[in-house]
Amino acid sequence: MRRDAGAPARTQAAGMLPARRTRPFRGPERPTVPSRRLESPGDSFKGHLGRCAIRVKGQFFMTTQQTASSDAPAGSGAETLTIVDNRTGRSYELPITDDTIRATDLRQIKVNDSDFGMMTYDPAFMNTASCRSAVTYLDGDHGVLRYRGYPIEQLAEKSSFLEVAYLLVNGELPNQAQLDTWVHEITHHTFVHENVRTFMQGFRYDAHPMGMLESSVGMLSTLYPESKDITDAEVNDLQIIRLIAKMPTLGAFAYRHITGKPFVYPNNELSYSENFLSMLFTTGVPKYEPDPRLVRALDVLFILHADHEQNCSTSAVRSVGSSQVDPYSAVTAGIAALYGPLHGGANEAVLQMLRRIKTVDNIPDFIEGVKGGKERLMGFGHRVYKNFDPRATIIKKACDDVFEVTGVNPLLSIAVELEKIALQDEYFVKRKLYPNVDFYSGLIYEALGMPADMFTVLFAIGRTPGWVAQWKEMLGDKEQKISRPRQVYIGAGERDYVEIGAR
Ligand code: ACO
Repeated sequence: MRRDAGAPARTQAAGMLPARRTRPFRGPERPTVPSRRLESPGDSFKGHLGRCAIRVKGQFFMTTQQTASSDAPAGSGAETLTIVDNRTGRSYELPITDDTIRATDLRQIKVNDSDFGMMTYDPAFMNTASCRSAVTYLDGDHGVLRYRGYPIEQLAEKSSFLEVAYLLVNGELPNQAQLDTWVHEITHHTFVHENVRTFMQGFRYDAHPMGMLESSVGMLSTLYPESKDITDAEVNDLQIIRLIAKMPTLGAFAYRHITGKPFVYPNNELSYSENFLSMLFTTGVPKYEPDPRLVRALDVLFILHADHEQNCSTSAVRSVGSSQVDPYSAVTAGIAALYGPLHGGANEAVLQMLRRIKTVDNIPDFIEGVKGGKERLMGFGHRVYKNFDPRATIIKKACDDVFEVTGVNPLLSIAVELEKIALQDEYFVKRKLYPNVDFYSGLIYEALGMPADMFTVLFAIGRTPGWVAQWKEMLGDKEQKISRPRQVYIGAGERDYVEIGAR
């Protein structure tokens, strides 16, 4: 019988489950031979399969419990995957599209009619595509990042943040008239309702600005109740503009609150990044004029952070948005995910780390601590980039531009030496750990005069176009439904309630 989609999987009494489901859970089984994919259909793969054989016509893929022994037949070239279930001897042929099989196609693999069917177990989504997306292309092995097909290097050199935002949201670069309208619209939605001001003033003097941003973006949903109608494309487009426009205002208000300064209202005569700096740093002078090199560096940093396909925060936006909630609430989920030290909080953690290291002489001891598992080298490593992070290369150049204006951040010498030592150390080389976008971004933000707890806020401002572009794409994707992963239940079987006195 088909299980109710809302009911937890694998929660029946132990006795009700087939034997293979009730054995103690020991985590994913490790193949005795590493999984691999042969380079060409002509290659053969020697494998004896302990439980379940998987053969791709034209190619051969991973299996469980392989040992090198038997010959694989040459493939026919068909785009299918043949799976033999050694428990039953049955074989299944699944279609392959874009090098992918559909996880739900595995459900037909059953030992008997009452069996729920085969699932995949993929903690942290290491090898599961949750959507088809045309927004961002990322090739981690070769350090490639493209928004809508355009290389990040070209966009960082030639484009502006708002132009990139248009590209991400609409799929194409704008012509001049489209860009002018877009910039006008964003500029004229930077103001926030006065209630936002009083809402923000309600936070304690030492509130973390990211917490303030998170709450105030959620609060926007109460000010724009029409945003709940996500079936209206025009309404959605307006919320997208509002979100991109108001994010710097909210971030700057948070900063002014924790620094005890009066809020500065947006100035429609300024560019996006200039206006943000003005709302942050204006102090009584009639006109705030930041150095154009700093404005450009900030714009580039926003461009570099604008999207990164299905990362933790974007997945949060899509997952929460899949419940058909308004976009402010969905983006709030993204901000919450970004708040974490393993995601957006890393650049703040990098600076704290550099400060703790204090001098170049202390680096070897620090590295030994990292290798001994005491802590992580923050700003190093990435789930996807296993060669280099192209954003880190661009940021290093932006560092030079900013330090030309502000003078060199004394922590830079520690960072440069740390990078040099780590890149030569076998521990990091073996694990393919390279500096990521956050290794140097914190140094730039600090040089721009930002306190460390504002760094994640800057990341959130930059990432907003990506979040809303992915949210918009999800809404238009007929295959998407409410996100609801499965689980492998490892808890107790059914047992009777014990009265408190008898425990
Ligand atoms: N320092 C030391 N060791 C590390 C680091 C690091 N920064 N990153 C990974 N490793 C080690 C792990 O201990 C593990 O070693 P093991 O195989 O001996 O157990 C191995 O490298 C693989 O690490 P995982 O944690 O499995 O890699 P994963 O892909 O899950 O993690 C992550 C990626 C979270 C980014 C990780 O590299 C990390 O914690 N880095 C530091 C935090 C950071 O800079 N985050 C920013 C990411 S970029 C962004 O969000 C914009």
